[in-house]
Order: sequence, then C-alpha cells, then structure tokens
Amino acid sequence: MTLRQDYFDDPSAWNALVDLLQDTFSIDVSILDQFDGPDRTSMPFGYFDADGRCVANFTAFSMPMIINGRVVKAAGYQSGAVGPEWRKRGLYRDLMQRAFAHTVTEGYELDLLLTDKPALYERYGFRILPQHIFVAQTPTLQKSDLSARQLFLDAPDDLRLIKTLLQDRQPASAQFAVVRQMEMFLLNASFNSAIRLTALGDDTVVAWTFDGATFWLLDIVGTAIPSLATIVSALDIEPERIEICFSPDRLDCEVSLEPYDGYTMLMVRGKAAADIVGPLMLSPMAEF
Ligand SMILES: CC(C)(COP(=O)(O)OP(=O)(O)OC[C@H]1O[C@@H](n2cnc3c(N)ncnc32)[C@H](O)[C@@H]1OP(=O)(O)O)[C@@H](O)C(=O)NCCC(=O)NCCS
Repeated sequence: MTLRQDYFDDPSAWNALVDLLQDTFSIDVSILDQFDGPDRTSMPFGYFDADGRCVANFTAFSMPMIINGRVVKAAGYQSGAVGPEWRKRGLYRDLMQRAFAHTVTEGYELDLLLTDKPALYERYGFRILPQHIFVAQTPTLQKSDLSARQLFLDAPDDLRLIKTLLQDRQPASAQFAVVRQMEMFLLNASFNSAIRLTALGDDTVVAWTFDGATFWLLDIVGTAIPSLATIVSALDIEPERIEICFSPDRLDCEVSLEPYDGYTMLMVRGKAAADIVGPLMLSPMAEF
C-alpha cells in the first residue's frame, strides 16, 4: 500500500477517492468536476492499493471563518473513510494524525469537523459545539423594488454570478460564518434539488427552501446582507414559519432558539474555539 498526500492533481487518484466516497457515503463528489474541481486548499492524505484503489482517506482543507467579528484561520476535515476490508487496522488513526500534524504546522487557530461518531475525535481534543435553529417572527412585508430571479447551476451566466459573489461575499454573520467556501456551497446546492438559489438584484444570492408553510433561509451570498424583511418581501412568499439556518445577527430580526438535531454533530478544537460564544449554526450550504 502506498501513502499519498496532496494528490488531487492526479485525476486517477482523485477518481479513486470519488469511488471510495461513493461506496462509503453514497455521495458523488465528482459533481465538483463540473465546476472547478475539488477545493484547491485541500490537503488529502490517502492510502492506495497496488491497483490504484483508494482504501483510506482523510482530507484537511482551509475554511476561514469569522468568529465574534474576527477572521480566524480555520481548517475543516472531510472525506474520512476506510474501505470495509481495511478497517480496524489503524489506517484512519494514522491519517488523522498526519492531517492534524499538517494543520498544526500550518498554524491553524481552529479545527472544525462534522461527524456522527464524535468519540472518534474526542480523544484528539475535539468537543461538540451545540447548534441551534433560529426561528424568526414573520417580518412586516413591504412592497419590494428588488428583482428576484431564480438561478440555475447549469446556466453558465448564473454560475458565474454565484461564483463571483462567493468570492466577494460579506460573511452572512459576524458571529459565526464561513468567510469563503465555494466548493461546498456548489456541491450542497447540487446535492439537494429542493434548494433554491435566487438572485436579489445583482449583488445578492439567497439559498432557501419553502414547503408552502415553512421558509428555511439557508445562506446569503452577497456583498451586503439584506434584512430578513427585505429578503422575504423580495421573494414574495408568505410563510407561516421562518427558520434561519445560520447566526442571524446581520438580518435585523427577532428570533427564538430551538436546538438543532442534525444527523451529524459539529466539533471544534484549537485556541480560537474559546472565542466562540452564543447560539450558532453552520449554514447547511457550508456543510462538509
Ligand atoms: C470510522 C472509520 C473511518 C474508522 O476507520 P479504521 O481504519 O477502522 O479506524 P482505526 O483502525 O484507525 O481506528 C482509529 C481509532 O478509532 C476508533 N474507532 C474506530 N471506529 C470507531 C467508531 N465507529 N466510533 C468510535 N471510535 C472508533 C478505534 O478504536 C481507534 O481507536 P484508538 O486510536 O484509540 O486505537 C471507518 O470505520 C469508516 O470508514 N466508517 C464509515 C465512514 C465513517 O464513518 N467515516 C467517519 C466519518 S466522520
């Protein structure tokens, strides 16, 4: 078996990871090839067999966050998997230790991951960060002058606008939000056909879902963050219930909290972890 790191420039090795993730999680990350490929900040660590199959992998990537008003150099960890016949031999422990050593050397202040197996990471100093849904009172709707236009990832002009705004965005929250994360936004939008991406004017894209009663505000990608009232008015919907799926400090609205009971748990460690205060949620569009 061969250990490889930083191997995403080799298409056959990337495709071997795509296969491992398909077999392990039933997700197809090759969708990223329709955009600009995997996140260029990624530092994957993997074991490959003699036939070039990826039998184990763990990837660190850069995910700058804004926390309590300060930009924090944060790393995320994803694509952690070992093929069934290779498990319980210490391969994952080896890859985790390599990835954690790499990010320590690179001076990351915060490590983040999402998992359904928190015990796996607690021994490395990660702790669960409880997440909350922010339930907002329905704002007073105004007549909106903003144009609202649905965007499609397979329409080149729409994709260009989304990518430009993902580069230039103001973080959706100053409390707890990604500063820049393009690939996961595009992947999450591709994975879930219920997610609507709507341009409000030329400088804001809203990611949302609506089942006719509940409106879920998933993310805002824009050079400025409009108020909740502006968004709901521009979308021209009259929800009975509004759930905001990220810290809503920039939305100028009243909220109450409900614990978020997701399939995975958000875990953190690192010296900037102490700066994280108050209720928060990582936008589903930034989930990794
Ligand atoms: C979880 C998984 C990656 C472990 O891989 P592995 O190569 O068998 O793990 P290792 O043999 O290197 O074990 C590493 C450590 O994790 C522990 N561990 C393994 N599976 C675990 C689990 N499900 N829950 C908690 N701890 C676990 C081991 O006891 C070992 O502990 P130690 O370092 O104190 O000895 C593998 O079972 C897998 O791919 N599962 C499906 C995908 C998945 O859940 N990925 C993780 C997503 S966050």
